[in-house]
Parts: sequence; C-alpha cells; structure tokens
Amino acid sequence: MTRGSAATSVGTVLAELFAAAARGCRDRSPLTQRLLDDAAGDLRRGGVTTRIMAGSERDREGAVPGLRFAGAVHRLVLEGRAPDLAKHYPSVGGQPHLPTLWEDALPALEQHADLLRHRIAAAVVQTNEPGRSAPLYGGLLVAAQEAAKAAGRQVPFCVRLLEVGASGGLNLRPHHVAYRLDDTVLGDPDSLLVLDPEWTGRPPADLTHRLRVVGRAGCDLNPVDVSTEDGRLHLSSFVWADQLARWNRLRDALDLAATDPVRVERSAGPEWLARQLARVERDVLTVVWHSVVWQYVSPADRAMGRAVLADAAARATAKTPLALLVFEPRRTDGDDYRFELLLKLWPAGISLNLGHGGGHGTPFTWDVTPWE
Ligand SMILES: C[S@@+](CC[C@H](N)C(=O)[O-])C[C@H]1O[C@@H](n2cnc3c(N)ncnc32)[C@H](O)[C@@H]1O
Repeated sequence: MTRGSAATSVGTVLAELFAAAARGCRDRSPLTQRLLDDAAGDLRRGGVTTRIMAGSERDREGAVPGLRFAGAVHRLVLEGRAPDLAKHYPSVGGQPHLPTLWEDALPALEQHADLLRHRIAAAVVQTNEPGRSAPLYGGLLVAAQEAAKAAGRQVPFCVRLLEVGASGGLNLRPHHVAYRLDDTVLGDPDSLLVLDPEWTGRPPADLTHRLRVVGRAGCDLNPVDVSTEDGRLHLSSFVWADQLARWNRLRDALDLAATDPVRVERSAGPEWLARQLARVERDVLTVVWHSVVWQYVSPADRAMGRAVLADAAARATAKTPLALLVFEPRRTDGDDYRFELLLKLWPAGISLNLGHGGGHGTPFTWDVTPWE
C-alpha cells in the first residue's frame, strides 16, 4: 500500500466515524449533525479536518473523535475565537443557518488547526448533567424517610452524600436546587438553578419534609474543577449548542456551584469509597450515589466497588444506615435500555426500583417496584 492510499483509508475510517456521530445527533442537534456531516466530507477530500484530526486517527473504540471535534469547535466559539461561526451558535446568542455553516467554520478551522489538534488529542468527552439532581432529590427523600421508618424514628435521617464519578460535582448540591412541580416548589425555592423535573407521579415520600444534607464528597477519575474558567469551558463545550434548555441548565448549575464549592477528588471509585466508608457517622444516613457511570467502569473496578459496598453494608446499623442510590441505563428487551433509579438500604433490607426517566434526569416517572 502506498503512503497516499494509507492516508486515504485512515481518512475514510474517520469520515465514517464522523458520519456515525452525525447520525447520533439526528433530531437532537441539527447544528452538530450538520457540522459533523460537513467535516466528514472534508475528511474524505483531505481538507483541513484531516490536519486537525492528525494523531487521532487510530483512536480506541468509544473515544468518539467526532464528538471531540465538535466539542473543540464549540469551545473556540465560546472563547470568542470564531466570530464568523458564532452567529450559528445559540449558546452565544446565534441562530443556525445550516447551508452556510461550513463556509463560516472554515476560517476558524484554518486559523486554529494546531490548537484544535492539540485539544482533541488531549480531551475525553465529558459531561455533567444537573438535571439528574431531580431524581436524586426524590430518591434521597425516600431513602432518608424509609431508613428512619425502619429504625423506628419519627424524623427522617440527615444525609451524607458520596458521589462516585461526580465529574464537575454539579449534582452534589441537590438540596440547593429548586424543583418546580405543578402545585409546589421543592428544594430551595430561591435557588439559582430551577429545574422542571417533569414528574409523572411523585416520590413515595412525604414531600413536605426538607432534605437535610450534612456532608458531601465526590470523586472522579478525571475530575473537572468548575471553579476555573477552563473547567467550565470543558463541560460547556460538550453540550450541544442548539440544545438551549440543557445549555441554560448547565450555566445555572455552574453559577450555583460558584456560590457553594465542593471539591471533586481525583480517584478511581472503589479506593475512594473504601476510604470514605471507613468513617462512620452516627444518626446520619450515608448515601452512595452514581449516575451514568457504571458503563465506563472497568470489570476490575466494578468487582472491587461491589466488595467495598458489601463490606460497608455488613457493618451498617440502625444508627449508622447505608444506602446505594443509582441512576443508570439498564437493558430492557433486546437492545433497548432505559434509565432507572434504584435504591438499596442497609440494614433495613429494602431494595426498590423507584422509577425511570430520560437520560438527563427529566422527565421522570415514579413507579415503585421491587429491585430484584
Ligand atoms: C457520563 S459522566 C457522568 C457524570 C455525572 N455522574 C453525571 O451524571 O453528570 C461519567 C463520569 O464517570 C467518570 N468515571 C468513569 N469511570 C470511573 C471510575 N472507575 N471511578 C471514578 N469515576 C469514573 C468519568 O470520568 C466521568 O466523569
């Protein structure tokens, strides 16, 4: 094979990956879909995208090069480095005009090709969805009240929240968010972050009780420090610019985080959890929480995580109860899957599937069944 044909076949493979990523955006982000389709065409022609993606051609499976490209381009826009392109990006007040998107992208791609190549090679796609605070909040109310009932207490437990795979930690302040229901507002009505949880049904709990969170901590293999501009841009760049509701939610969650900082520690989940769970607090419900993390965790870490939790569960008492609360996709029939909220409580021996919802936490249907 000649050098030229090798380059062509690599370009073709990347173009296919970009086209597949574009199909994944269909009906959800016409802007990203068009950018990726145009970039796929550019890769086939050996245009500037080929230079930008140099070094990322042999990415491992799941590294989604197209989404990293789209994120890096979005970041240029957010930084004010792509003024012609910005007029297409609703995240900075623009309005997409798809037929002229690529010609307006080209000057920025040419000018910042080296910067883009460097960033795309270094980055992993990473998000943090504050909408998941809504099922978390409802699940915590249920957990705090069920644990109290099982322990023969009148008053719900205070909660210590431990999040594995916390990303930027945006779901570590569920009690400081406002949740707007038809007839009432739960949480903190004065919050900078107001969510419309779009609930069908209600959590099986007394919603008039306030959630009391007395401790919070989080870890991530790749934590994002949202107290820095770099961290905020990193998370923002991977939200599709024409999904304005999601964009606004993230912006408000970042603003809220600035008023109430919580550091996310750099660590793999099991080691960190073992250290956290070694410390026991009396009269507090310790809740281990993770959302949309499990699919990324290695088999070895999964096994170790289960063992760490089983060990802590065996030590839990009526005065020092433990909960596992997760919001994760679970396979249903065939290839279909849905996002389910699952709760286990020790020593109460309670194990519930609390309901299911959209991947970003809203909408959500409360529908309690046993968790087998
Ligand atoms: C899709 S994000 C979800 C982030 C957050 N939980 C949320 O719901 O917005 C998955 C996160 O899990 C983290 N992660 C993956 N494997 C991990 C592990 N073994 N230990 C800790 N964090 C992990 C990733 O770095 C990433 O930030």
